[in-house]
Amino acid sequence: MASTDDTRPTHETDHTHHGLARGEAPGWAHLVTPAPVQPSHPAPRHIAMIMDGNGRWAAERGLPRLTGHERGTENIRRITTAAAEAGVGYLTLWAFSTENWRRPREEVEGIIRILGMCLVRDVDELHRQGVQLRHIGSLDGLPAELRQQVLAAIDLTSQNDRIVLTLAFNYGGRQEVVQAVREIVASGIDPAEVSEETISAHLYTNGMPDPDLIIRTSGEHRTSNFMVWQGAYAELFFTPVYWPDFGPDHLRGAIEDFAQRERRFGHVTAVVAPPS
Ligand code: IPE
Ligand code: IPE
Ligand code: MG
Repeated sequence: MASTDDTRPTHETDHTHHGLARGEAPGWAHLVTPAPVQPSHPAPRHIAMIMDGNGRWAAERGLPRLTGHERGTENIRRITTAAAEAGVGYLTLWAFSTENWRRPREEVEGIIRILGMCLVRDVDELHRQGVQLRHIGSLDGLPAELRQQVLAAIDLTSQNDRIVLTLAFNYGGRQEVVQAVREIVASGIDPAEVSEETISAHLYTNGMPDPDLIIRTSGEHRTSNFMVWQGAYAELFFTPVYWPDFGPDHLRGAIEDFAQRERRFGHVTAVVAPPS
């Protein structure tokens, strides 16, 4: 559902900032002339978040897991506002994975109900704030009512340009690659013509920049099938904080941490300290 024609004027990123245009093979010049390295960056253009820990947040308080999902879902608006204020252009929040269908039926139904309620409750405020809503994942298999709620929110906010908030719901990275391959094969393209750009263009995220920073809450150090293609060069940030407790200060802390990272994209470092 991502736009294929992203002409948003703000938050422009130079895709050649790592020295190479996408898909361009490095020439010999790159071996003798180290590319300039950026030790710090402006705010990440695209932050993607694995919103984890709702269940443990609730269990630690003796509450039902669904209460954790409610509190987690309420947090979406707060973090979206904070991300927009920090100058982030794209925020992608993973709310439900293709694997989460394996959970008990009551939990799955509860999560779907809570997400629908959240959309209905928060969409006007998000719209007022200039948030453009998108969805990645499959809408197939979701209840018709939720599908309608998602599509209505996307439609209402489609002209907004302050920040793009993408909800990853019924999303799995491998499933996304499978559907991309199916589309590419069905197009009849000559295999020799298939490039990295071809694959990117058939992912749900078509038209969006790859995430610069992937944040996972709740202390787990894995990505659990999130953005398997797009996250190839994302900086990873893990925090023990459970998602319902992850507030604007935590987000700003992650952005500050990102600013200290040295992204190299395969280049040599600019300064290599000689052994002492
Ligand atoms: C994340 O919280 C939300 C979903 C995966 C739907 P969890 O429900 O995974 O919470 P924990 O990991 O069990 O604490
Ligand atoms: C990943 O969390 C999915 C979302 C946060 C939506 P999980 O809780 O499902 O991941 P695992 O099972 O710990 O790897
Ligand atoms: Mg979890």
